[in-house]
Amino acid sequence: MDGMTVDYNGLIPNNVGLNDDARVRKALETWYPGYIDWWTQMGPEGFQDKLVYLRTAVGVGSEGWAKFGYVRMPEYRWGVLLAPEVEGRTIPFGAHKGERAWQEVPGEYRAMLRRLLVIQGDTEPASVEQQRHLGATAPSNYDLRNLFQVNVEEGRHLWAMVYLLQKYFGRDGREEAQELLHRRSGDRDSPRMLGAFNEATPDWLSFFMFTFFTDRDGKMQLHALAQSGFDPLSRTCRFMLTEEAHHMFVGETGVQRIVQRTCEAMRDAGIDDPTDVERVRALGVIDLPTLQKKANLHFSLTLDLFGNEISTNAANAFNAGLKGRYREDRLTDDHVLTDATYPVQRLKDGAIVQEDVPALSALNMRLRDDFVTDANAGVARWNRVLERAGFEYRLRLPHVAFNRRIGEFAAIHADTQGRMLSEQQWAGGKETMLPSDDDNRFIESLMRPVHAPGSYADWIAPPRIGIDNKPGNFEYVKIEA
Ligand SMILES: [Fe+2]
Ligand SMILES: [Fe+2]
Repeated sequence: MDGMTVDYNGLIPNNVGLNDDARVRKALETWYPGYIDWWTQMGPEGFQDKLVYLRTAVGVGSEGWAKFGYVRMPEYRWGVLLAPEVEGRTIPFGAHKGERAWQEVPGEYRAMLRRLLVIQGDTEPASVEQQRHLGATAPSNYDLRNLFQVNVEEGRHLWAMVYLLQKYFGRDGREEAQELLHRRSGDRDSPRMLGAFNEATPDWLSFFMFTFFTDRDGKMQLHALAQSGFDPLSRTCRFMLTEEAHHMFVGETGVQRIVQRTCEAMRDAGIDDPTDVERVRALGVIDLPTLQKKANLHFSLTLDLFGNEISTNAANAFNAGLKGRYREDRLTDDHVLTDATYPVQRLKDGAIVQEDVPALSALNMRLRDDFVTDANAGVARWNRVLERAGFEYRLRLPHVAFNRRIGEFAAIHADTQGRMLSEQQWAGGKETMLPSDDDNRFIESLMRPVHAPGSYADWIAPPRIGIDNKPGNFEYVKIEA
């Protein structure tokens, strides 16, 4: 096999030669029933027996890697897909820079690597669990399909990490693979590993914000791991990124379509002031200040995923050659960073200041800054909708110190501009910056299912083009079948 085509003959589609690897094939086949149990219990509720128009990966080249077709989700062909091997690849950064990339786990970094795989792997099923009730309130057949596409691909991302664990970590890896099916998002006794993945995703605005912000954290982490000197991880993540792009698309266009619909409704009703929340809500659309509050919430929850401002774990993973920076291969410094510094926002003597710290210890912040830049580009595209519609209101990302639970700013309260607030000021002003119970109740009141092909809930505009260029009335999810 050339590594570019995917073998669909066995139980597990793959381009990693599972046919010739009896040990790993058996481990994966043993794990499979537990995965299906997990999927049927914790995957999309109410639609498991429906035919859904989904894309499935059939190759790993940059062109024509996916095919579309109707499939019932439990019968989706989850598989193990790695991007093609790069001939003569070397470790691009850290203490081993320039050495041949590893095809086996370097013994000294075994524990560190295992931890990286488990943390990444844990986020994938978590988001499926968080989103499992959303089908019941989908604003259209098109959106319903996109939700399920994201869900099956997160399932496949779990497969991706489980393959690496089972192939390279023996019994430890098999145990970790079981644990990944055992933890549950939001569970008191056995929660998922990271905070944002234990939050509820109760409505579609939350879903779009989640895929815009939190899947984008996933994108950044995958980019950093795609640089890894452990070549199988690099190849896995490079392929995952091709799928991840759709998740960003779902989030960005989802919010964009909400903004568009809100603008249309305000214009039709002659409302010039988008902050006139009561009047806008009376039109049955989501007002812009509420969108801003939801963005504030999901942005701040997602920032916590990048970890502490100063991190020796991040420095160690970089030195070891396991986790690089965003697009390391496009950076032009020495890729070792022993003498470099990086500016970080910190809490010093009760004030927020910028401080130069050793670049190695600030790698979490560097990745987070790249995330903020990437997210800001998407927000700018939302704002273009407002601009075109003739409104001066703009959406913007809050300050990084706002509403944090991890890192230095967890100890303080700050407003969305980064001004420090007393406990009392925070308690008094919180509801102007984060969704209140009242805001959530309003959003919830709009969540009514629209499953008929070609119809859309009143609070969201139709997409400009269909998935796989299908026409507007295409039945992506066969509701009656
Ligand atoms: Fe994922
Ligand atoms: Fe994703």
